[in-house]
Amino acid sequence: MTPSLPDNPQSKQPEIDRVYAEPKETISPFVFNHQVAQVFDDMISRSVPGYTLCHEVLALITQRYAQAGSLLFDLGCSSGASTKVLADAAPTTCKIIGIDNSQPMIDRCQVTLHDLIEHDRVALSCQDISDTDLAGASIVVLNYTLQFLPLAIRDQLMARIYQSLLPGGIVFVAEKITNPEMDQQQAINELHLDFKRRQGYSELEIAQKRSALEAVLVPETELAHHQRLAQCGFEIPQTLTRALNFIAFMGQKPRSNSKRSAHRPERDRR
Ligand SMILES: C[S@@+](CC[C@H](N)C(=O)[O-])C[C@H]1O[C@@H](n2cnc3c(N)ncnc32)[C@H](O)[C@@H]1O
Repeated sequence: MTPSLPDNPQSKQPEIDRVYAEPKETISPFVFNHQVAQVFDDMISRSVPGYTLCHEVLALITQRYAQAGSLLFDLGCSSGASTKVLADAAPTTCKIIGIDNSQPMIDRCQVTLHDLIEHDRVALSCQDISDTDLAGASIVVLNYTLQFLPLAIRDQLMARIYQSLLPGGIVFVAEKITNPEMDQQQAINELHLDFKRRQGYSELEIAQKRSALEAVLVPETELAHHQRLAQCGFEIPQTLTRALNFIAFMGQKPRSNSKRSAHRPERDRR
């Protein structure tokens, strides 16, 4: 295993994830603390199949749907990977807002997005998503974040996102999902374990992290996600990427005057 880099919050280099490498006497519920923030980029890319693909598709969605002069929100921005995708792909008149309720994550994000923050392209705020004013948004992103919120508040949050979005606005969501068919669920879970093994995680690391995440990360079915979006009023809830038990999907708020113009690219409207 490659040795980890020194624990330096100013370093842009992610450290190697060894959070669950040593045996722990008790496994506490997973939290996005300083230790996790330091290794987060390595942790997520080695744990989530399709992570990079999701960002590539988010760039396409941003290019097509970000509305000039609007706000773009990255809810649960962590170290800022998807925040940077938004900033790189959106019109220059857009402002990107990253929200996270973990101060260590925001600190890490401040380092990785330093230049974009200096140029006033990105602003970060340490707060709970439930308290975030989303008015004026043309895109709201929840990349692997909704799964960490209590089930009881997910409907309410999505309804508020819908109400806050500008007409034609987009919600983009990436999540781990569960399958109602037991056999399929088991098969896909095993493949996900194989993915982690191929990424160099030991059986101990996999087992300890799995128990830490139990009851903290609560996945839903793809159908439940699509139904939630449809119930809120989003048009065309559809899955855009799929890699094993991880998907990314989007929904669009209708344009009030004309449904037919809903997919017209922003550059054609300027
Ligand atoms: C899996 S990470 C997100 C990864 C990130 N979006 C990306 O693409 O790399 C989930 C993030 O959501 C944040 N989070 C969880 N619950 C939150 C809440 N209620 N309010 C704000 N942030 C929250 C966590 O602190 C964590 O940084």
